[in-house]
Amino acid sequence: MRPEYLGQVLGIEQASFKNPWPPAAFAAEIQHPWSWFRVIGPAKKTDGISRVDGFIICWVILSDMHVLNLAVLPECRRKSLGSALLQDSLADFSRQGGGYVSLEVRPSNLAAQELYRAFGFEVVGRRKQYYRSDNEDALIMALEVEEEQMRGRKDTGN
Ligand SMILES: CC(C)(COP(=O)(O)OP(=O)(O)OC[C@H]1O[C@@H](n2cnc3c(N)ncnc32)[C@H](O)[C@@H]1OP(=O)(O)O)[C@@H](O)C(=O)NCCC(=O)NCCS
Repeated sequence: MRPEYLGQVLGIEQASFKNPWPPAAFAAEIQHPWSWFRVIGPAKKTDGISRVDGFIICWVILSDMHVLNLAVLPECRRKSLGSALLQDSLADFSRQGGGYVSLEVRPSNLAAQELYRAFGFEVVGRRKQYYRSDNEDALIMALEVEEEQMRGRKDTGN
């Protein structure tokens, strides 16, 4: 993530969620040392990407990782970009020792749940009326990642 991508990240956020995070929240995530804020898009010949197609934000504190936000441009969905963003973060978390990964997802968000299940996440709990905009509950999904566990998948190109 770079500050110059912020506008495009905000556009994806607004196209993806009923109650998008405000710009200041994203600006703060660029600063936090515990925040892994990553984007995906076509590589430029020189450096960086020419367009932001998706992003992920995770907090990593010792052996705990929390996925705070993940979104892909509507027109770029079902092309494995969401999977690539999650895979990349999980692989790095695994390389630095692994641990417990958790996230909240709406029960109505079946697409995201399918994605997380494909990585081995399971529902471990429920937060009642977690989403303040409409009082929908949140499912808590979690995954235990072992040290270097992800290396095999990455090495085989999957
Ligand atoms: C959830 C989201 C990030 C997935 O991104 P994506 O790039 O489309 O996901 P992928 O292409 O990597 O999909 C991986 C797998 O997830 C599942 N999946 C993804 N979208 C799905 C959908 N609409 N319906 C059912 N399953 C879906 C499928 O199993 C898919 O594998 P397949 O395409 O081989 O069948 C994207 O739909 C999005 O941005 N949604 C709005 C924001 C959001 O809900 N974020 C998650 C908050 S918890």
